[in-house]
Amino acid sequence: MARQMRKFELDVQKQPLEFPKSDGETVQLPVTRDSTSQEQAESATGRLAAIVESSDDAIISKNLDGTITSWNESAERMFGYTTAEAIGQPISLIIPPDRRSEEDSILDRIRHGKRVDHFETVRMRKDGSLIELSLTISPVRDSHGRIVGASKVGRDITERRQTERSLQESEERLRKTEKLAAAGQLAASLAHEINNPLSSVTNALYLLKHIPGLTPEAQNLVTIASTELARMARIVRQSLSYYRKGLIPKDVDLGAIVAESLQVFSSKFERSHVSIKQKLATGLVVHGFSDEIRQVVDNLLLNAVEAMPEGGRLSVAVHPSRDWKHETRRGIRLTIGDSGSGISREVRPRIFEPFFTTKAEKGTGLGLWVARGLIAKHDGTIRVRSSNAKGHSGTVISILWPAAGPIEDVKVRSGSEVAS
Ligand SMILES: Nc1ncnc2c1ncn2[C@@H]1O[C@H](COP(=O)(O)OP(=O)(O)O)[C@@H](O)[C@H]1O
Ligand SMILES: [Mg+2]
Repeated sequence: MARQMRKFELDVQKQPLEFPKSDGETVQLPVTRDSTSQEQAESATGRLAAIVESSDDAIISKNLDGTITSWNESAERMFGYTTAEAIGQPISLIIPPDRRSEEDSILDRIRHGKRVDHFETVRMRKDGSLIELSLTISPVRDSHGRIVGASKVGRDITERRQTERSLQESEERLRKTEKLAAAGQLAASLAHEINNPLSSVTNALYLLKHIPGLTPEAQNLVTIASTELARMARIVRQSLSYYRKGLIPKDVDLGAIVAESLQVFSSKFERSHVSIKQKLATGLVVHGFSDEIRQVVDNLLLNAVEAMPEGGRLSVAVHPSRDWKHETRRGIRLTIGDSGSGISREVRPRIFEPFFTTKAEKGTGLGLWVARGLIAKHDGTIRVRSSNAKGHSGTVISILWPAAGPIEDVKVRSGSEVAS
């Protein structure tokens, strides 16, 4: 105790002392030179040193050159330097290089007798790791009232910051979900409103086309109108109508859905000379909407086939996995890889834009846009890797879906079909 007492240079004689405690309260030590004998002053200093040592906050003092003159136990714990290591060192010891200029402005305030209150910043531990702190820095005066240094009280706010951040993240997620829900509802009602007149017009055009005595020119116009109308219907079907409203999410076996889609597409694959390699784990469950998940899978399979007009290889897998960004978050990964044309560097940033297509009249440009919206709605993430290098071009789409159940002990169904 005596060791620290000497190192803590505070004026205990001139003015009442206020000391911040870790709960935010202040301890007051009314000590004046007139009424205090040497003995009383020493006992007050002793009490003060005890408070400093037992504080949960790091309490450090430094002189006006920025040299550390005292260092309490919490400072040892917080920064990893022992008192002996820290004292005599410049305060820059614990300031990250990119924040060195902070110290100049702090010392400047201190020299002018001003405090720095609850300054939230970052400091560095002995092992180089960073710690978020709230600092209160006050001038220390000698018995003549001259400013000779500063005392710093630092509180670790890493945890509080983390809580704040995760709160903010969940608020953002909520807002996003709300937006998507609103967009989904709008889309669903739009689809409904558009579909009815669309089928009336389609029917009317069909009847019109079969009216006898129509001039070839009129026939031609009706054909154009029908084609364009069919295109419109496709757009509505591909985008709007897949957002269902009011359905309750269920546990969906992702592997089973993918197997079904592959089955539906099988004759198309065969016709296009596409061979399939599949490795589908079953029993991996996503909590969501099976129609929407199916829509994602179908859109991706369709894109893959369309990228291989001369045939090629398609590999599809469903397996347990981890998040790329959050190692601890587990999920179910769906990968769809094709040996198709690949996506050029210029095109890549735009593929998720609505109505962006490189397939002219044949494409709607809605497939990936819709897929991404539906994946986000399920809290999943999508990643695209692609190469259009000659000889080994291809695209791999990888989606991580959050797992609704256990993801260990899964059976894997694998097989391959080679197109004739
Ligand atoms: N597997 C793939 N291989 C090559 N290009 C792809 C693939 N998937 C998507 N693309 C590119 O992304 C664009 C947008 O895809 P999408 O939104 O599904 O619309 P569409 O298929 O109607 O063009 C496509 O036009 C194509 O250029
Ligand atoms: Mg598409």
